[in-house]
Amino acid sequence: MFESKIVTPRIRKMDQVEIVSFLGECKKQAKPGLIDLSIGNPDIPPCPEALNELLERSRDPNMHGYGNFNGVGELLEGIGAYYKQVFKTEVNPQEIMVVRGIRSAIFDVATVFAGSGDYILLPSVSYPSYFLATEFCGASTYLIPSSEESDYLPDLTQIPLDVVEKAKILYLNYPHNPTGAVITRDKLEEIVEFAHKNSILLCYDNAYNEIVFDGIKPLSLMEIEGAREVGIELFSFSKLTSLAGWRISFIAGGEAIIKEIREYLSLTDTAPYNGFQYGAAVALKQTYLDNTGAKLGEHYQKRRDELIEVLETIGLDYYKSMGGFYIWVKSPKGDGRSFTNYLLNEANILVVPGDYYGEDGTNYVRLSLTTSEDDFQEVLKRLKRLTL
Ligand SMILES: Cc1ncc(COP(=O)(O)O)c(C=O)c1O
Repeated sequence: MFESKIVTPRIRKMDQVEIVSFLGECKKQAKPGLIDLSIGNPDIPPCPEALNELLERSRDPNMHGYGNFNGVGELLEGIGAYYKQVFKTEVNPQEIMVVRGIRSAIFDVATVFAGSGDYILLPSVSYPSYFLATEFCGASTYLIPSSEESDYLPDLTQIPLDVVEKAKILYLNYPHNPTGAVITRDKLEEIVEFAHKNSILLCYDNAYNEIVFDGIKPLSLMEIEGAREVGIELFSFSKLTSLAGWRISFIAGGEAIIKEIREYLSLTDTAPYNGFQYGAAVALKQTYLDNTGAKLGEHYQKRRDELIEVLETIGLDYYKSMGGFYIWVKSPKGDGRSFTNYLLNEANILVVPGDYYGEDGTNYVRLSLTTSEDDFQEVLKRLKRLTL
C-alpha cells in the first residue's frame, strides 16, 4: 500500500500513532448521537474584543503578508503586561518567541536541544507529543515513574546518574494533561535547582496556566528564581483565551535559550498571521480585565464536581483533577482500551484510552470536560444509567 511505504516504521510503531487510528475507528463505528469527550476544545467562546480586533486588522490590505517573526510590538508588550499583572514578574521582548501553537514548539525544542546519544526526561504519564518529539529527534526517552500515589509529579531521585549525565531536556506539564494534577511552587523550585545542577533544559508546558480549581494560585515558571537561565515556559492561547483554531502561542524563557530557538525557527517556520497576533494581544489583556482565568477555573471545577459525583454513584475510581480540562478515570474491568469500547457501546461516549499518555496510563481513560452544557448534562445521564 502506498501509505505504508511512505510512513517510516519508526513512526508507525509509536503507540500514540496507533491510538489515533483506534480513535478514528471508534468514531466510524459510533451510532448517531455520539458525544465526543476525546478532545480538549474549549466550549467557552473567545472574547468579542479579540474578534473585533481581528476583523479590524484584517481589513488592512497590508496585513496579509508573512507574520512578524519577532512578534508584533503590541503582542510583546501585552505579554509583558500580562506577566506583570498575573504573575508579578517582568518578561521582556527578547525573552519571548511567538509560535504557531505550542504543540509544534515541543518538537522544535527537542530538535534544537537534543539528538542521538542524549536523553530526554519525562514523567511516565505525559502529553503524547513529548514521546513523539523525543523519538523524532533521535534521542532516548527516560520515563520518570509517575502515578496517582505521587500526584503524577516526578521523583527526580529515581533517575539513574548515568541518565542524568546524558539528559538534555526535561518536559513537564502542570496543570497536567491527562490527569489534572498540579505542581506546588516548592516542587517547581526543586526541579529548577535540579536543572541548574545538571545543565538540563526544563521545558515547562503551561498550556492550562490559570485554569486551576479549589482556590489554587496559578503558577508560572517565570516567577521562579533562576528558572529562566535553564528553562522555558510554553504558553498557549488555545485554552485560556479559547483561540485554539488561530494556532498562536508563545515560548517565554531566558534570552540565550530563546535566541537558539529563534534562530532555528527562522530557518524552518514562519510566524503566526499578524491579524492573529494583534487579536491575541487584545484577548490576553481581556483575561485580566475580565478575570477570565478564575471564571474558567470555576466553570470546569463545577463540571469536575458534577462528574465525580456521578462517578462515585456508579462506583468508578478517578483521580481528583485540580486544574485543566480533564478527568482521569480508572477502568473498572480490563484496560483503558476495553473500557473505551464499553463506554462507546453502552453510552455512546468517546473517551481516550490512557495508554495514549504512556504505558503507565494503560488502566485509565481520559474524559474531557469541554462539551456544550447540554451534552455535558446528557453525559451525566448516560453514565448514571450504566450498570458496571
Ligand atoms: C499539555 C498540552 N500542551 C500543548 C497543547 C497544545 O497547545 P497549542 O494549541 O498551543 O498547540 C495541549 C493541547 O491539548 C496540551 O494539553
